[in-house]
Amino acid sequence: MAGAGGTKGVTSLGALRTLGDWIRWTAARLDEAGVCCGHGMADTLDEAAYLVLHALGLPPEVPPPVYDTTLTAAEEAAVQTLVRRRVEERRPAAYLTQEAWFCGLRFYVDERVLVPRSPIAELIEENFAPWLGEEREVRRILDLGTGSGCIAIACAYAFPDAVVDAVDISTDALAVARHNIRRHRLMERVFPVHSDLFAALKGRRYDLIVSNPPYVSEAEMETLPREYGHEPAQGLVAAHDGLEFALRILEGAPAHLRQDGILVVEVGAGRAPLERRLPTLPFVWLEFRRGGEGVFLLTAEDLAAHRQAILEACRGI
Ligand SMILES: C[S@@+](CC[C@H](N)C(=O)[O-])C[C@H]1O[C@@H](n2cnc3c(N)ncnc32)[C@H](O)[C@@H]1O
Repeated sequence: MAGAGGTKGVTSLGALRTLGDWIRWTAARLDEAGVCCGHGMADTLDEAAYLVLHALGLPPEVPPPVYDTTLTAAEEAAVQTLVRRRVEERRPAAYLTQEAWFCGLRFYVDERVLVPRSPIAELIEENFAPWLGEEREVRRILDLGTGSGCIAIACAYAFPDAVVDAVDISTDALAVARHNIRRHRLMERVFPVHSDLFAALKGRRYDLIVSNPPYVSEAEMETLPREYGHEPAQGLVAAHDGLEFALRILEGAPAHLRQDGILVVEVGAGRAPLERRLPTLPFVWLEFRRGGEGVFLLTAEDLAAHRQAILEACRGI
């Protein structure tokens, strides 16, 4: 069998013996091909370890002695097939393995949903402290643009007394979310809702509205690596400098937040254009230990106090 990504590396294949050798070889092939690791993987070594372990039917973390074990011929072939697909098709690893990890939880994913990777995971793991602390009762949560359901489901684990509405406009995405809700046995607490943002939620109010909406501008979309072309465009692209959904959420949130509720929205590179449009809004830009940026938090009080500015910024959206 030829080495993945071309002829380079073929001569050395016979020298590869251990799991560690194969991870090193895979990382080199990924580097050589210039793949993009922007889908939840730290770098090519991280992704190589994930791919090789998956090809062998092992979990993403194994005790160190396992790295010294040798592969069978069938295992070597399985690794090479997976690596070749990753390199040639430029499909994100998660679509090849049909799984992704978020907040330490496993999710089914396919091309109907974005690969989970939002830094919002860190906020969920910390129960949105200090804004939603232990003192604070959290009963109702809304995840706008739920995709695979990863944020909604992780929130349900973090707040065991809460019910979560998981909204998406895509029926394809909702089918995946529903599958994950069932897998996590959360059918009694996480509810998929087919809606254009708040449209189907009349009269419902929440302690927390959280959203990772589409926010890639049309211009930026043209520049993204091939891997992003496998994700649903409806999950990525937003008009008006990437701000369409963020602005619509700012406009609609006050009618759906409880008096002491909070709104958390990821806008990525949309931070600068958003601040330019709404210079007086007291956005709290959250910081992340594991990296990531462009996530703001506002309280219901902030939104009420700046209602006029928001309505003006949303004119024509
Ligand atoms: C960036 S993805 C986020 C998916 C998931 N929350 C995550 O973090 O991996 C955005 C999601 O918003 C959905 N979406 C796009 N427009 C929408 C709209 N008008 N109303 C509700 N959801 C929408 C897309 O279908 C997509 O699933």
